[in-house]
Amino acid sequence: MDTAWDHRFAQRTQRMQSSAIRELLKLVNEPDVISFAGGLPGPDVFPIEELNKACTKVLTKEGSLALQYGTTEGYQPLREKIAEITSHYGIGVTAENILITSGSQQALDLLGKIFINPGDKILTEAPTYLGAIQAWAAYGAEYVTVRSDNDGMITNDLERALRLGPKFIYVLPNFQNPSGTTLPLDRRIQLVDLAERYGVPIIEDDPYGQLRYEGEHIPAVEVLDCRIRETNTCYSGNVIYLSTFSKTLAPGLRLAWVVAPPEVIRKLVQAKQGTDLHTATFNQVVAYELIKNGFLEEHIHLIRNVYRERRDAMLRGLEREMPSGVQWTHPQGGLFLWVTLPEGLDTSEIFTDAVKEKVAFVPGASFFPHGGGHNTMRLNFSFSNPEQIEEGIKRLARVIRKYS
Ligand SMILES: Cc1ncc(COP(=O)(O)O)c(C=O)c1O
Repeated sequence: MDTAWDHRFAQRTQRMQSSAIRELLKLVNEPDVISFAGGLPGPDVFPIEELNKACTKVLTKEGSLALQYGTTEGYQPLREKIAEITSHYGIGVTAENILITSGSQQALDLLGKIFINPGDKILTEAPTYLGAIQAWAAYGAEYVTVRSDNDGMITNDLERALRLGPKFIYVLPNFQNPSGTTLPLDRRIQLVDLAERYGVPIIEDDPYGQLRYEGEHIPAVEVLDCRIRETNTCYSGNVIYLSTFSKTLAPGLRLAWVVAPPEVIRKLVQAKQGTDLHTATFNQVVAYELIKNGFLEEHIHLIRNVYRERRDAMLRGLEREMPSGVQWTHPQGGLFLWVTLPEGLDTSEIFTDAVKEKVAFVPGASFFPHGGGHNTMRLNFSFSNPEQIEEGIKRLARVIRKYS
Protein backbone atom coordinates (compact mmCIF):
# COMPACT_ATOMS: atom_id res chain seq x y z
CA MET A 1 0.00 0.00 0.00
CA ASP A 2 1.36 3.45 -0.95
CA THR A 3 1.75 5.93 1.88
CA ALA A 4 2.59 9.63 2.07
CA TRP A 5 6.16 8.64 2.89
CA ASP A 6 6.88 6.67 -0.28
CA HIS A 7 8.04 9.58 -2.46
CA ARG A 8 10.27 10.86 0.34
CA PHE A 9 12.45 7.77 0.52
CA ALA A 10 15.86 7.89 -1.22
CA GLN A 11 16.38 5.89 -4.41
CA ARG A 12 18.43 3.30 -2.50
CA THR A 13 15.59 2.93 0.02
CA GLN A 14 13.20 2.04 -2.81
CA ARG A 15 15.52 -0.88 -3.61
CA MET A 16 15.25 -2.30 -0.09
CA GLN A 17 12.96 -5.24 0.36
CA SER A 18 12.10 -7.15 3.48
CA SER A 19 13.60 -10.61 3.53
CA ALA A 20 11.30 -13.40 2.37
CA ILE A 21 12.76 -15.50 5.16
CA ARG A 22 11.89 -13.02 7.89
CA GLU A 23 8.34 -12.76 6.57
CA LEU A 24 8.05 -16.57 6.51
CA LEU A 25 9.45 -16.92 10.00
CA LYS A 26 6.57 -14.86 11.32
CA LEU A 27 4.24 -17.65 10.15
CA VAL A 28 6.13 -20.44 11.83
CA ASN A 29 6.54 -19.08 15.33
CA GLU A 30 3.77 -21.20 16.83
CA PRO A 31 5.16 -23.76 19.27
CA ASP A 32 3.69 -26.82 17.53
CA VAL A 33 5.36 -26.03 14.18
CA ILE A 34 8.63 -27.90 13.62
CA SER A 35 10.73 -25.29 11.89
CA PHE A 36 13.55 -26.15 9.51
CA ALA A 37 13.22 -22.61 8.17
CA GLY A 38 15.47 -20.24 10.16
CA GLY A 39 19.25 -20.37 10.30
CA LEU A 40 19.07 -20.61 14.07
CA PRO A 41 21.68 -22.39 16.18
CA GLY A 42 20.35 -24.88 18.75
CA PRO A 43 19.55 -22.85 21.88
CA ASP A 44 20.56 -25.87 23.97
CA VAL A 45 24.23 -25.36 22.99
CA PHE A 46 24.44 -21.73 24.05
CA PRO A 47 27.14 -21.39 26.73
CA ILE A 48 24.77 -19.69 29.15
CA GLU A 49 26.53 -20.56 32.40
CA GLU A 50 29.96 -19.69 31.10
CA LEU A 51 28.69 -16.38 29.73
CA ASN A 52 27.04 -15.66 33.05
CA LYS A 53 30.36 -16.16 34.84
CA ALA A 54 32.25 -14.10 32.26
CA CYS A 55 29.73 -11.24 32.55
CA THR A 56 30.01 -11.16 36.33
CA LYS A 57 33.79 -11.22 36.18
CA VAL A 58 33.94 -8.45 33.58
CA LEU A 59 31.51 -6.23 35.50
CA THR A 60 33.35 -6.81 38.76
CA LYS A 61 36.88 -6.34 37.49
CA GLU A 62 36.59 -4.25 34.31
CA GLY A 63 33.15 -2.66 34.49
CA SER A 64 34.29 0.86 33.75
CA LEU A 65 36.15 -0.26 30.62
CA ALA A 66 33.44 -2.64 29.40
CA LEU A 67 30.64 -0.09 29.74
CA GLN A 68 32.56 2.74 28.06
CA TYR A 69 32.71 3.73 24.36
CA GLY A 70 35.43 1.86 22.53
CA THR A 71 37.48 2.18 19.34
CA THR A 72 35.81 1.51 16.00
CA GLU A 73 38.38 -1.17 15.10
CA GLY A 74 37.32 -3.25 18.10
CA TYR A 75 38.60 -4.29 21.53
CA GLN A 76 42.35 -4.75 21.02
CA PRO A 77 42.81 -8.00 23.03
CA LEU A 78 39.93 -9.58 21.06
CA ARG A 79 41.44 -8.44 17.74
CA GLU A 80 44.76 -9.92 18.80
CA LYS A 81 43.13 -13.18 19.84
CA ILE A 82 41.34 -13.45 16.49
CA ALA A 83 44.60 -12.68 14.66
CA GLU A 84 46.25 -15.45 16.68
CA ILE A 85 43.47 -17.95 15.85
CA THR A 86 43.59 -17.00 12.15
CA SER A 87 47.38 -17.34 12.10
CA HIS A 88 47.08 -20.99 13.19
CA TYR A 89 45.88 -21.74 9.68
CA GLY A 90 49.23 -20.67 8.21
CA ILE A 91 48.40 -17.12 7.27
CA GLY A 92 50.28 -14.09 8.56
CA VAL A 93 47.68 -11.88 10.19
CA THR A 94 48.05 -9.15 12.82
CA ALA A 95 45.44 -7.12 14.72
CA GLU A 96 45.85 -4.46 11.99
CA ASN A 97 44.13 -6.90 9.61
CA ILE A 98 41.10 -7.35 11.89
CA LEU A 99 37.93 -5.29 12.27
CA ILE A 100 35.31 -6.40 14.79
CA THR A 101 31.78 -5.94 13.44
CA SER A 102 28.26 -6.24 14.83
CA GLY A 103 27.66 -9.59 13.14
CA SER A 104 28.94 -10.61 9.71
CA GLN A 105 25.77 -9.09 8.36
CA GLN A 106 27.16 -5.67 9.24
CA ALA A 107 30.45 -6.57 7.56
CA LEU A 108 28.53 -7.39 4.36
CA ASP A 109 26.70 -4.07 4.54
CA LEU A 110 29.93 -2.11 5.18
CA LEU A 111 31.61 -3.85 2.25
CA GLY A 112 28.67 -2.80 0.10
CA LYS A 113 29.03 0.74 1.42
CA ILE A 114 32.73 1.02 0.54
CA PHE A 115 32.80 -0.91 -2.76
CA ILE A 116 29.48 -0.83 -4.61
CA ASN A 117 28.43 1.92 -7.01
CA PRO A 118 24.92 1.62 -8.47
CA GLY A 119 25.08 -0.80 -11.40
CA ASP A 120 28.27 -2.58 -10.25
CA LYS A 121 28.19 -6.29 -10.92
CA ILE A 122 28.83 -8.71 -8.06
CA LEU A 123 29.73 -12.28 -8.91
CA THR A 124 28.01 -14.85 -6.70
CA GLU A 125 27.21 -18.52 -6.62
CA ALA A 126 23.63 -19.46 -7.46
CA PRO A 127 22.12 -20.11 -4.97
CA THR A 128 23.82 -17.77 -2.48
CA TYR A 129 23.29 -16.17 0.95
CA LEU A 130 20.12 -14.12 0.88
CA GLY A 131 21.37 -11.59 3.47
CA ALA A 132 24.19 -10.55 1.12
CA ILE A 133 21.87 -10.12 -1.87
CA GLN A 134 19.63 -7.97 0.30
CA ALA A 135 22.41 -5.86 1.81
CA TRP A 136 23.96 -5.10 -1.58
CA ALA A 137 20.70 -4.53 -3.43
CA ALA A 138 20.35 -1.32 -1.40
CA TYR A 139 23.63 -0.04 -2.93
CA GLY A 140 22.38 -0.75 -6.46
CA ALA A 141 24.32 -3.99 -7.02
CA GLU A 142 23.58 -6.15 -10.03
CA TYR A 143 24.48 -9.81 -10.04
CA VAL A 144 26.47 -12.10 -12.27
CA THR A 145 25.96 -15.69 -11.16
CA VAL A 146 27.90 -18.90 -11.58
CA ARG A 147 26.04 -22.18 -11.31
CA SER A 148 26.70 -24.62 -8.47
CA ASP A 149 26.59 -28.39 -8.20
CA ASN A 150 27.06 -30.73 -5.23
CA ASP A 151 30.64 -29.37 -4.88
CA GLY A 152 29.64 -25.70 -4.79
CA MET A 153 30.55 -23.10 -7.42
CA ILE A 154 31.39 -24.65 -10.81
CA THR A 155 34.71 -22.87 -11.19
CA ASN A 156 35.07 -24.01 -14.81
CA ASP A 157 32.29 -21.51 -15.56
CA LEU A 158 33.99 -18.72 -13.61
CA GLU A 159 36.12 -17.25 -16.38
CA ARG A 160 33.08 -16.52 -18.55
CA ALA A 161 31.56 -14.55 -15.63
CA LEU A 162 34.83 -12.76 -14.86
CA ARG A 163 34.93 -11.43 -18.43
CA LEU A 164 31.78 -9.42 -17.55
CA GLY A 165 33.91 -7.28 -15.21
CA PRO A 166 32.50 -7.93 -11.71
CA LYS A 167 33.58 -5.67 -8.85
CA PHE A 168 34.21 -8.65 -6.58
CA ILE A 169 33.47 -12.34 -6.17
CA TYR A 170 31.35 -13.44 -3.18
CA VAL A 171 31.83 -17.04 -2.18
CA LEU A 172 30.94 -19.35 0.74
CA PRO A 173 33.36 -22.26 0.44
CA ASN A 174 32.41 -24.19 3.62
CA PHE A 175 29.00 -25.83 4.12
CA GLN A 176 27.35 -23.13 2.09
CA ASN A 177 24.21 -21.29 3.11
CA PRO A 178 21.79 -22.34 1.63
CA SER A 179 23.03 -25.49 -0.12
CA GLY A 180 25.32 -27.12 2.48
CA THR A 181 27.96 -27.81 -0.21
CA THR A 182 31.74 -27.54 0.26
CA LEU A 183 34.11 -26.23 -2.40
CA PRO A 184 36.92 -28.79 -2.93
CA LEU A 185 40.59 -27.80 -2.88
CA ASP A 186 41.08 -27.89 -6.66
CA ARG A 187 38.14 -25.50 -7.20
CA ARG A 188 39.45 -23.17 -4.46
CA ILE A 189 42.84 -23.04 -6.16
CA GLN A 190 41.22 -22.36 -9.54
CA LEU A 191 39.13 -19.59 -7.94
CA VAL A 192 42.16 -17.91 -6.36
CA ASP A 193 44.19 -18.15 -9.60
CA LEU A 194 41.44 -16.77 -11.82
CA ALA A 195 40.62 -13.94 -9.40
CA GLU A 196 44.29 -12.97 -9.34
CA ARG A 197 44.58 -13.18 -13.14
CA TYR A 198 41.52 -10.96 -13.66
CA GLY A 199 42.41 -8.60 -10.78
CA VAL A 200 39.06 -9.18 -9.05
CA PRO A 201 38.98 -9.39 -5.23
CA ILE A 202 37.22 -12.21 -3.39
CA ILE A 203 34.94 -11.88 -0.37
CA GLU A 204 35.03 -15.20 1.45
CA ASP A 205 32.15 -15.58 3.91
CA ASP A 206 32.87 -18.37 6.39
CA PRO A 207 30.49 -18.52 9.36
CA TYR A 208 30.44 -22.34 9.45
CA GLY A 209 34.05 -23.39 8.72
CA GLN A 210 34.63 -24.55 12.31
CA LEU A 211 31.54 -26.75 12.27
CA ARG A 212 32.81 -29.74 10.27
CA TYR A 213 31.26 -33.13 11.12
CA GLU A 214 33.19 -35.33 8.73
CA GLY A 215 36.10 -35.21 6.27
CA GLU A 216 39.32 -33.22 6.31
CA HIS A 217 39.63 -29.47 6.82
CA ILE A 218 40.26 -27.66 3.50
CA PRO A 219 42.36 -24.48 3.59
CA ALA A 220 40.41 -21.23 3.35
CA VAL A 221 40.51 -19.34 0.06
CA GLU A 222 42.37 -16.59 1.92
CA VAL A 223 45.05 -19.06 3.02
CA LEU A 224 45.44 -20.32 -0.56
CA ASP A 225 45.71 -16.75 -1.79
CA CYS A 226 48.51 -16.22 0.73
CA ARG A 227 50.40 -19.15 -0.74
CA ILE A 228 50.68 -17.48 -4.14
CA ARG A 229 52.39 -14.38 -2.76
CA GLU A 230 55.44 -13.47 -0.69
CA THR A 231 54.80 -14.38 2.94
CA ASN A 232 54.32 -11.36 5.08
CA THR A 233 53.38 -10.89 8.73
CA CYS A 234 50.50 -8.58 7.80
CA TYR A 235 48.04 -9.96 5.27
CA SER A 236 47.82 -7.88 2.09
CA GLY A 237 46.34 -10.27 -0.48
CA ASN A 238 43.29 -10.35 -2.71
CA VAL A 239 40.78 -11.88 -0.28
CA ILE A 240 38.55 -10.30 2.35
CA TYR A 241 37.56 -12.99 4.83
CA LEU A 242 34.52 -12.86 7.14
CA SER A 243 33.68 -14.99 10.13
CA THR A 244 31.49 -14.72 13.21
CA PHE A 245 30.85 -15.96 16.74
CA SER A 246 27.14 -16.30 15.90
CA LYS A 247 27.34 -20.03 15.27
CA THR A 248 30.12 -20.94 17.73
CA LEU A 249 29.03 -18.85 20.76
CA ALA A 250 25.66 -17.13 20.25
CA PRO A 251 24.12 -14.89 17.56
CA GLY A 252 22.63 -12.58 20.20
CA LEU A 253 26.14 -11.34 20.99
CA ARG A 254 26.31 -9.83 17.46
CA LEU A 255 30.06 -10.35 17.26
CA ALA A 256 31.94 -11.07 14.06
CA TRP A 257 35.11 -10.00 12.28
CA VAL A 258 36.67 -9.12 8.95
CA VAL A 259 40.22 -10.12 7.97
CA ALA A 260 41.50 -7.85 5.21
CA PRO A 261 44.52 -5.83 4.04
CA PRO A 262 45.06 -2.81 6.34
CA GLU A 263 43.97 -0.28 3.69
CA VAL A 264 40.60 -2.05 3.36
CA ILE A 265 40.25 -2.19 7.17
CA ARG A 266 40.89 1.58 7.34
CA LYS A 267 38.04 2.28 4.88
CA LEU A 268 35.71 -0.15 6.65
CA VAL A 269 36.49 1.66 9.92
CA GLN A 270 35.43 4.98 8.38
CA ALA A 271 32.25 3.37 7.07
CA LYS A 272 31.49 1.77 10.43
CA GLN A 273 31.98 5.04 12.32
CA GLY A 274 28.97 6.46 10.50
CA THR A 275 26.95 3.33 11.21
CA ASP A 276 27.37 2.54 14.91
CA LEU A 277 30.71 4.05 16.11
CA HIS A 278 31.77 0.59 17.29
CA THR A 279 30.50 -2.87 18.20
CA ALA A 280 29.19 -3.14 21.80
CA THR A 281 32.24 -2.92 24.07
CA PHE A 282 30.60 -5.02 26.76
CA ASN A 283 29.98 -7.94 24.40
CA GLN A 284 33.52 -7.80 23.08
CA VAL A 285 35.13 -7.76 26.53
CA VAL A 286 32.87 -10.62 27.71
CA ALA A 287 33.61 -12.70 24.60
CA TYR A 288 37.33 -12.15 25.12
CA GLU A 289 37.06 -13.16 28.76
CA LEU A 290 35.22 -16.30 27.66
CA ILE A 291 37.60 -17.44 24.92
CA LYS A 292 40.99 -16.22 26.09
CA ASN A 293 41.97 -19.57 27.64
CA GLY A 294 40.77 -22.15 25.11
CA PHE A 295 37.04 -22.37 25.87
CA LEU A 296 36.10 -21.84 22.21
CA GLU A 297 37.88 -24.99 20.99
CA GLU A 298 36.19 -27.10 23.69
CA HIS A 299 32.80 -25.63 22.98
CA ILE A 300 33.10 -26.10 19.22
CA HIS A 301 33.86 -29.76 19.88
CA LEU A 302 30.57 -30.08 21.78
CA ILE A 303 28.57 -28.24 19.10
CA ARG A 304 30.00 -30.49 16.38
CA ASN A 305 28.84 -33.60 18.21
CA VAL A 306 25.34 -32.25 18.79
CA TYR A 307 24.86 -30.98 15.22
CA ARG A 308 26.36 -34.09 13.63
CA GLU A 309 23.67 -36.13 15.33
CA ARG A 310 20.98 -33.73 14.07
CA ARG A 311 22.33 -33.79 10.52
CA ASP A 312 22.36 -37.59 10.61
CA ALA A 313 18.78 -37.68 11.92
CA MET A 314 17.70 -35.49 9.02
CA LEU A 315 19.59 -37.54 6.42
CA ARG A 316 18.12 -40.79 7.81
CA GLY A 317 14.61 -39.29 7.82
CA LEU A 318 14.93 -38.07 4.22
CA GLU A 319 16.23 -41.46 3.10
CA ARG A 320 13.34 -43.25 4.80
CA GLU A 321 10.45 -40.91 4.02
CA MET A 322 10.96 -39.04 0.76
CA PRO A 323 9.31 -40.27 -2.44
CA SER A 324 11.52 -41.12 -5.41
CA GLY A 325 12.65 -38.18 -7.53
CA VAL A 326 13.49 -36.06 -4.48
CA GLN A 327 17.22 -35.34 -4.04
CA TRP A 328 19.24 -33.68 -1.29
CA THR A 329 22.81 -32.66 -0.48
CA HIS A 330 24.96 -34.42 2.12
CA PRO A 331 26.62 -31.53 4.02
CA GLN A 332 29.95 -32.25 5.71
CA GLY A 333 29.22 -29.51 8.24
CA GLY A 334 27.26 -26.33 8.88
CA LEU A 335 23.55 -25.89 9.52
CA PHE A 336 21.72 -26.60 6.26
CA LEU A 337 20.91 -29.08 3.59
CA TRP A 338 19.29 -28.46 0.24
CA VAL A 339 16.44 -30.45 -1.22
CA THR A 340 15.56 -30.57 -4.91
CA LEU A 341 12.09 -31.79 -5.92
CA PRO A 342 11.19 -33.00 -9.40
CA GLU A 343 11.06 -30.23 -12.06
CA GLY A 344 7.73 -28.46 -12.24
CA LEU A 345 6.99 -28.51 -8.51
CA ASP A 346 6.96 -25.15 -6.73
CA THR A 347 8.15 -25.13 -3.13
CA SER A 348 6.54 -21.76 -2.35
CA GLU A 349 3.14 -23.35 -3.09
CA ILE A 350 4.05 -26.40 -1.04
CA PHE A 351 5.14 -24.14 1.82
CA THR A 352 1.56 -23.07 2.64
CA ASP A 353 0.46 -26.69 2.87
CA ALA A 354 3.52 -27.58 4.93
CA VAL A 355 2.72 -24.89 7.52
CA LYS A 356 -0.79 -26.36 7.79
CA GLU A 357 0.90 -29.70 8.52
CA LYS A 358 3.02 -27.88 11.15
CA VAL A 359 6.39 -28.07 9.45
CA ALA A 360 8.34 -25.23 7.81
CA PHE A 361 11.27 -24.73 5.42
CA VAL A 362 12.54 -21.91 3.22
CA PRO A 363 11.53 -22.13 -0.46
CA GLY A 364 14.75 -22.04 -2.51
CA ALA A 365 13.88 -19.39 -5.10
CA SER A 366 14.79 -16.46 -2.83
CA PHE A 367 18.44 -17.58 -2.80
CA PHE A 368 18.84 -17.07 -6.56
CA PRO A 369 19.69 -13.47 -7.51
CA HIS A 370 18.31 -14.05 -11.03
CA GLY A 371 15.32 -16.25 -10.21
CA GLY A 372 14.96 -19.98 -10.74
CA GLY A 373 15.23 -22.74 -8.15
CA HIS A 374 11.43 -23.00 -7.77
CA ASN A 375 11.63 -26.72 -7.06
CA THR A 376 14.22 -26.34 -4.26
CA MET A 377 14.12 -25.76 -0.52
CA ARG A 378 16.55 -25.14 2.35
CA LEU A 379 16.30 -27.21 5.51
CA ASN A 380 18.01 -26.26 8.76
CA PHE A 381 19.00 -29.10 11.09
CA SER A 382 20.71 -27.27 13.98
CA PHE A 383 17.66 -25.84 15.73
CA SER A 384 15.56 -28.95 16.41
CA ASN A 385 16.48 -32.10 18.33
CA PRO A 386 16.68 -35.50 16.55
CA GLU A 387 13.14 -36.57 17.56
CA GLN A 388 11.66 -33.31 16.27
CA ILE A 389 13.71 -33.66 13.09
CA GLU A 390 12.39 -37.17 12.43
CA GLU A 391 8.81 -36.08 13.05
CA GLY A 392 9.27 -32.92 10.93
CA ILE A 393 10.66 -34.89 7.97
CA LYS A 394 7.71 -37.30 8.20
CA ARG A 395 5.29 -34.38 8.00
CA LEU A 396 7.23 -32.79 5.13
CA ALA A 397 7.33 -36.03 3.15
CA ARG A 398 3.57 -36.42 3.63
CA VAL A 399 3.02 -32.99 2.07
CA ILE A 400 5.47 -33.58 -0.79
CA ARG A 401 3.88 -36.93 -1.64
CA LYS A 402 0.62 -35.10 -2.33
CA TYR A 403 2.36 -33.16 -5.09
CA SER A 404 4.49 -35.87 -6.67
C1 LIG B 1 26.67 -16.92 4.96
C2 LIG B 1 26.28 -16.02 6.07
N1 LIG B 1 26.86 -14.83 6.16
C3 LIG B 1 26.55 -13.98 7.16
C4 LIG B 1 25.62 -14.32 8.11
C5 LIG B 1 25.28 -13.33 9.18
O1 LIG B 1 25.82 -13.74 10.39
P1 LIG B 1 25.89 -12.83 11.68
O2 LIG B 1 24.99 -13.44 12.69
O3 LIG B 1 27.34 -12.87 12.10
O4 LIG B 1 25.47 -11.44 11.29
C6 LIG B 1 24.99 -15.57 8.05
C7 LIG B 1 23.97 -15.94 9.05
O5 LIG B 1 23.30 -16.92 8.99
C8 LIG B 1 25.34 -16.44 7.00
O6 LIG B 1 24.78 -17.65 6.86
